[in-house]
Amino acid sequence: MCGIIGYVGKASAAPILIEGLRRLEYRGYDSSGIAILNGSNTIELRKRSGRLDNLKDLLLENPATGSCGISHTRWATHGEPSDENAHPHSDQSGRLAVVHNGVIENYKILKDRLTEEGHEFVSQTDSEVLAHLIGKCYDSSTVSDSKDRLVSAVREALPQVSGTYGIAVLHADIPEFLVGARLGSPLVLGLGRGENFLASDVGAIVTHTKDAVYLQDRDLVCLTPDDFNIEKIDGADSTYEVSTVDYTPEQAEKGEYPHFMLKEIFEQPTSIGNAFRGRLVDDQASAILGGLGLTPRELRDIDRIVLCGCGTASHAAMAGEYIIESLARIPTEVEIASEFRYRNPPLDKNTLVFVISQSGETIDTLAAMREGQRKGHRVLGIVNSVGSTIARESDGGSYLHSGPEIGVAATKSFTSQVTVLALLGLLLGRMKHLSVEYGQNVLKELRELPAKVEQVLLQSERIRQIAIKYNDVPAMLFLGRQFHYATALEGALKMKEISYIFASGHAAAELKHGIIALVSEEVPSVFIMPKDSVYEKNVSTLEEVKARKGPTIAITTEGNTELEELADEVIYIPPVMECLSPILAAIPLQLLSYHFSVERGCDVDKPRNLAKSVTVE
Ligand code: M6R
Repeated sequence: MCGIIGYVGKASAAPILIEGLRRLEYRGYDSSGIAILNGSNTIELRKRSGRLDNLKDLLLENPATGSCGISHTRWATHGEPSDENAHPHSDQSGRLAVVHNGVIENYKILKDRLTEEGHEFVSQTDSEVLAHLIGKCYDSSTVSDSKDRLVSAVREALPQVSGTYGIAVLHADIPEFLVGARLGSPLVLGLGRGENFLASDVGAIVTHTKDAVYLQDRDLVCLTPDDFNIEKIDGADSTYEVSTVDYTPEQAEKGEYPHFMLKEIFEQPTSIGNAFRGRLVDDQASAILGGLGLTPRELRDIDRIVLCGCGTASHAAMAGEYIIESLARIPTEVEIASEFRYRNPPLDKNTLVFVISQSGETIDTLAAMREGQRKGHRVLGIVNSVGSTIARESDGGSYLHSGPEIGVAATKSFTSQVTVLALLGLLLGRMKHLSVEYGQNVLKELRELPAKVEQVLLQSERIRQIAIKYNDVPAMLFLGRQFHYATALEGALKMKEISYIFASGHAAAELKHGIIALVSEEVPSVFIMPKDSVYEKNVSTLEEVKARKGPTIAITTEGNTELEELADEVIYIPPVMECLSPILAAIPLQLLSYHFSVERGCDVDKPRNLAKSVTVE
């Protein structure tokens, strides 16, 4: 979490940094700040708690001019959101400024040591320690060239910290010069003409350049307006390549939509199509996922699959478990990445591990991937963000091709993840027992999905009316069976995170084992119950809720009108084969949480306490 952007060039830095921070706000929005080196070699520091607008207002009152600067938008870890705890942080001399994304785990020991030496700290953050440590190394250095001196100070300081960092450093003695380094937190170098950039994410700089270098762990980079140099922090050589950013700035704008989340929900006919485009093989009634890098023989030998992710990605994994087991009959397990990384799960040579992540930067998912690799396993990624750490470090995998997802609530990434997992199930199934006819049917149904999603989206207004009717309820239950156990969990997560209504998702038959105690006139239950193999079972559960006066909202298949008599509200999805139905059923749930959030006056795209990309433990 936290977003950083640095600029060195000829233009005025402040507007570029503020615009970059706006694009990085999804990474955290508790406070923001900017440090700019002015013409008289003094650092102009401005920072404010709260949203970016507060910083903009401050800059209007008290502008900061100069063409070299660093900036930060924060998701608080150590220390509450406040002006003092906002980045950038200064060293003891006040002539060095640092922005930091990550966590310095040994900050307390370092802070105590520096305090004994006479350093005075003004914040509760771990990051301020980094500024003091680098500043101390700079001030005590005997290196005469000031640029070399700053680089050697960073080199001397970073090995003393344990934890994770993506940093940008600026010194008042050195005009037109920035230093960056990363370990465990993302950092991208943007290459312009007569200007260069450092950022947590290419999205922050895509309006200025499409040429980017995705830095690797332990890289240290120096930037001037016309040049850059990348080495390892310990001075060893580093290899890098310049990539071309594959999306346009417009893709990362809301356009005509009031919120990114709504835009991303409505993009799903396209994003789902992008997830399967070029991957359907008609003459084999199968799918192709070339990025897996596995031979047919290796694929055939797989006897177990582990799917690993966090939050929404773990729900997609759960839907994937049901899909792969039904299509390919290969035992599949879901592991929450944060658990997997600290367990010692038995994996053998025929187990295939996938990590699933929209951002490709989620720290627990990254750590789970590295743990699997450390044990000698091939770990594949299902990732949206091109060039992300998981995309680069995994041993192959598949991109979602969803385009940027900015709203904190994951929407189109979920449906694309499930689509890719369905392709995987089809591919593996067709290598085993799955018939040509069945394979052809899956291909046909996949191709029909975008049009069916359009049909679901037409019900947005109807769903809004439901949100208006129930918008002050204290809690909600989400219930589904089989493929829709995962959908129920996802619906509940969406509702909690953007509407702040307590919601819990359950396998519907679990109701009688305790959850039914929560059913009351004030607590609606959302049933995900298309006309499938467990439909009748769901009807019985719905009756049990009705008998206890619980309001019911049912998501079912078009044409199934009997629920009009039974449920208080009915939302329809088009008929679809059972294993693909989570893709369609997730969409009314996304719309439901969206409209609840709007009706309750919540900040849809930036819900409280959250950040899009969870890059700290
Ligand atoms: O970027 P990732 O897919 O790895 O993110 C995983 C979760 O942090 C994410 O899905 C989170 O749960 C969303 N806010 C849910 O809407």
